[in-house]
Amino acid sequence: ALPVYLDCDTGIGDAMAIAYLLASEHAALLGIGTVSGNTSAAGAARNTLDLLALAGRDDIPVAVGEHDFLTRAFHGGATRVHGDNGIGGVVLPESPRHPVAESAPEMLVRLAHENAGQLRVIAIGPLTNLAIALRLDPTIADLVADVTIMGGAAMVPGNVTPVAEANVHNDPDAAAAVLEAAWPVTLVPLDTTMQSLLDTDDRDRLLASTRPVAHAIGEMLDTYFDFYVQVFGRRVSVLHDPLAAAVALGDLELDSAPIVHVEIDTTNGPGRGQTVSDLRGRFRGHPPTERARTRLVLSVAEPFAPKLMAALLT
Ligand code: BDR
Ligand code: CA
Repeated sequence: ALPVYLDCDTGIGDAMAIAYLLASEHAALLGIGTVSGNTSAAGAARNTLDLLALAGRDDIPVAVGEHDFLTRAFHGGATRVHGDNGIGGVVLPESPRHPVAESAPEMLVRLAHENAGQLRVIAIGPLTNLAIALRLDPTIADLVADVTIMGGAAMVPGNVTPVAEANVHNDPDAAAAVLEAAWPVTLVPLDTTMQSLLDTDDRDRLLASTRPVAHAIGEMLDTYFDFYVQVFGRRVSVLHDPLAAAVALGDLELDSAPIVHVEIDTTNGPGRGQTVSDLRGRFRGHPPTERARTRLVLSVAEPFAPKLMAALLT
């Protein structure tokens, strides 16, 4: 199984990604680090620990990461989208476990060394912890096998500004540092993640499940539906984070995934957080080495929702 470090801001979509990774036979989740985003880093760790307990996976350590972003303070979370506690107001049974003593960036550095050449990093929240880990130990860029990120919007509108996606917009400086580092990055932007949806039938099947995690995710979905009805005109949920997890594991055939130069707008103007993507490959040249490439997943070749449902229900 592939050794995985997950960095997340749990989050309804993050909860789905965690459940997907737990169900996968290809993934060995060695540790989870949390960052502020949907909710605070500490709140995300609480949600993660509770979810792991519900899944019977108290063996997976959870490390709290950065509360604030590199150059800005945490703003209090996306409560309008994810509910007050980040997981749609669903109250999970409280796990007796606590986060480990090491920080999320420290955990990432340690796992990169312990699994040299093997570790897969999956980042589905703001990229603050990854950027700090690179500062702590720049050699992790050579040690990590690859980094898969849910973030950005290449040719579609943003979801927090007209051009920016939430994970990148929360900490554009961190995103820039992560894309500039010499590790292979796969970026899974809104272009792809807005194409896969769960609907109310899926929600009902999750609620009918005897699996506690599937049931809990079914309960969370209503909050997500309340938000996305404004975007899609019907009660559906996008699958940002679990889709990125599936791409990281190689579970999905990719349709369009060019290697392009992606630059992050770190200015304070209206473009802040935009993933400026050189899709024609003409304007910015190519990354200096093959290893330092960014692969931009613009579409996948197969529907993801059925795969996710199967993973959650079985
Ligand atoms: C991303 O932002 C968060 O709200 C979601 O969990 C996802 O990671 C989508 O823009
Ligand atoms: Ca997330």
